[in-house]
Amino acid sequence: MATHWEEVQKKLDSIHEKQLFRETKVYQGIDFCSNDYMGLATNPRMLEFFQTKKEVYPFGSTASRLVRGNRMSMDKFESEFAHFVEGEAALLVSTGFTANFGLIDSIAAPDCFVFSDRLNHASILDGIRISGAQKKYYNHLDLNHLRTLLEKANIDDPGYKKKRIVVTETLFSMDGDSPDLKTLLELKREFGFVLVLDEAHAFGIYGSSGKGLVFRDLTLSEIKSIDYRVYTLGKSLGLEGGIIVTKKIGRDHLVNVMRSFIFSTAPLPMISELASFALSFLGTMDKERADLLSLANGLKNSLKQNGFSITETTSHIVPLLLETEKEALFYANGLQEKGLDVRAIRPPTVPTPRLRISLNAKLKLNDIQTLVEELVRVREKWNSR
Ligand SMILES: Cc1ncc(COP(=O)(O)O)c(C=O)c1O
Repeated sequence: MATHWEEVQKKLDSIHEKQLFRETKVYQGIDFCSNDYMGLATNPRMLEFFQTKKEVYPFGSTASRLVRGNRMSMDKFESEFAHFVEGEAALLVSTGFTANFGLIDSIAAPDCFVFSDRLNHASILDGIRISGAQKKYYNHLDLNHLRTLLEKANIDDPGYKKKRIVVTETLFSMDGDSPDLKTLLELKREFGFVLVLDEAHAFGIYGSSGKGLVFRDLTLSEIKSIDYRVYTLGKSLGLEGGIIVTKKIGRDHLVNVMRSFIFSTAPLPMISELASFALSFLGTMDKERADLLSLANGLKNSLKQNGFSITETTSHIVPLLLETEKEALFYANGLQEKGLDVRAIRPPTVPTPRLRISLNAKLKLNDIQTLVEELVRVREKWNSR
């Protein structure tokens, strides 16, 4: 029988053979791949604020939030965040992954149906799995398919008592596209399911003051009817953490049952301090938001004009589709050699290989031009191998 380490080696060999081997590398070059969409991770105002803040000490929160890990700044940030996105209450946790995973596990159970977009993030899919709920995956963004599954779930079970939960990202990070939120809310009114929306990649950029896609596409009363909204601090806020916006009783419930909240060290105090500060000026960054979206449109047009194939993106995330894993790696390496930090994204993260180009507010028009020129050069090299 193979030993554990022989099995591990075999798995790695197979990953290598399929061109799917990954390794951690220290970043270099112009950022075309992070989720620091508003450039706050290196914002000078944030640095100045941090340097004057004594409250970041003790550095560690030293325990879970239910023991000694909670700080005034965490309660304060939760109230400010809930207020910013017009929710009743919010719960801060250590990551967006923890938020989705713990939330779904807390509200779903084996007697529930959870309807999920097939391409939802791993944290959502894992939460569904661990909850033991009955999974129903609908085709990506296909709300007609969702409707069919909702109708069928009723018909299949005449003594129907089960809870139905629908969960989707509002902006898909690997495709840059979004569901039709109006139609989703119509379905919610018709079928009465619990709705979970993950605004991870939309918050900070879309909607008035960057409050998220729901603020661009829905009325306030529709927004208030969404049961749970999940956000991460790791993207537009340039930090780390997750935050769930819900009703006050929804928060109380999670505080009492959500295992990834209860049994984990609270976020670092500096996170909530910095997050509050970031939130105090995020709303004023309209020019940065407008410039970012205009750069994204320019990039999409330029890629299309140069014959590249991209997804049906409607956002600042511009995934460039390639045929094979080898080709995606060749492109990414070629760009990285020229100081452009673009990464290849491969299965199982996505069904088909691609370069996930994500733009941020620090980029300038000439960065985009350089990127397209280098892409054209890398393609020539690939074609002449
Ligand atoms: C849609 C979505 N939700 C949640 C997460 C997890 O957030 P975090 O990185 O804060 O753990 C991600 C991470 O990429 C994501 O893409």
